[in-house]
Amino acid sequence: MPEDQKIQNVVIIGAGNLATHLALALHHKGINVIQVLNRTRATGEKLARKVKAGYTADFRAADFKADLFILAVSDSAIFNVANSLCLKDKLLVHTSGSVEMEVLSEASSNIGVFYPLQTFSKNKRINFSNTPVCIEANTNNNEEKLLQLARLISKKVQLINSEQRKVLHMTAVFAGNFSSFMYTIAEDLLKKHDIPFSLLKPLIMQTAATAKHEDVFSRQTGPAVRGDTKIMDEHREMLAKHGVYMEIYDLISKSIIKHKTRNDEL
Ligand SMILES: NC(=O)c1ccc[n+]([C@@H]2O[C@H](COP(=O)([O-])OP(=O)(O)OC[C@H]3O[C@@H](n4cnc5c(N)ncnc54)[C@H](OP(=O)(O)O)[C@@H]3O)[C@@H](O)[C@H]2O)c1
Repeated sequence: MPEDQKIQNVVIIGAGNLATHLALALHHKGINVIQVLNRTRATGEKLARKVKAGYTADFRAADFKADLFILAVSDSAIFNVANSLCLKDKLLVHTSGSVEMEVLSEASSNIGVFYPLQTFSKNKRINFSNTPVCIEANTNNNEEKLLQLARLISKKVQLINSEQRKVLHMTAVFAGNFSSFMYTIAEDLLKKHDIPFSLLKPLIMQTAATAKHEDVFSRQTGPAVRGDTKIMDEHREMLAKHGVYMEIYDLISKSIIKHKTRNDEL
C-alpha cells in the first residue's frame, strides 16, 4: 500500500475500557492519536493526556485531519454517536463484536469494523500483539488500510464479516464469560465449606491450556464423559440445596454425555 494511503492519524471516540487500550496500543506503535472525543470530560482528558492527543466533548468538532475515526462507545450508542459526527466520506469504524457494520452506513460512505477479540478493562494490562483483531470493511481499499493498521498492533489479524463476527462474539460468551462464571460457582461453594479457592488454580490453568489444541473435547475429563453415574448422583445430592447450581450441573453433564454419544457414533 502506498505510504500516503496508510493510516497515520486517528481520532478515538470514547474513553472507556477498549478506547483506552486501543489508543495506547496505536500510540506506542507510532500512530498519531490526534484527538479523543468523549462525552465525559474527566475520562476523555485523562486518555487524551496519555496519548498526547487533543480533547473535545463536542461530537461535531471531530478533527478532519484524521485518516480514521474509531468509535469505541457502548454498543447501544454507536448509531447515534456515529450520525452526530458528520463525517461524510471519512473512514469510520466501530469496535463491537455484536453490531453489524451497516449501522454506520448513514454516517459515512467509508466504513468498517475493527474488533479486538479480548476482554479489556482499563486497569488490567493486555498484550495487544496476542489479541486477535477482526477486520471488516465496505471496500477493498478500506479493508487494506484497516488490515495494515491492525497488523501494526497485532500478530493475529483476520478478515471476519458481520455474520461471522456475531457468531464469534456469541462463542466468546461460552469460552470466556461462562467459563469465568463456572469459577465463581466453584469459589462460592468452596467458601461455604471454608476451603481456599487457590487449590483449584493449577487445575484451572491446566484446563485452559488444553484449549490450545484443536478438538478440545478429545481432552474432556470428569464423571459425565466417563459415564460415572454414581459420582454424578453424589454431586447432585451435595448440590440439592443450591437449586440453580444443580440445574447448571445437570444441563452441562447432559450436554457432555450427548456430545460424547454423537462423537462415538461418528
Ligand atoms: N471492553 C471490552 O472487553 C471490549 C472488547 C471488544 C470490543 N469492545 C467494544 O468496544 C466498545 C466500547 O466498549 P467498552 O467496554 O470500552 O465500554 P465502556 O468502558 O463502558 O466505555 C463506554 C464508552 O462509551 C461512551 N458512551 C456510552 N454511552 C454513550 C452515549 N449515549 N453517548 C456518547 N458516548 C457514550 C462512554 O462515555 P462516558 O465516558 O461519557 O460514559 C465511554 O467512553 C463497545 O462497542 C464494545 O462492544 C469492548
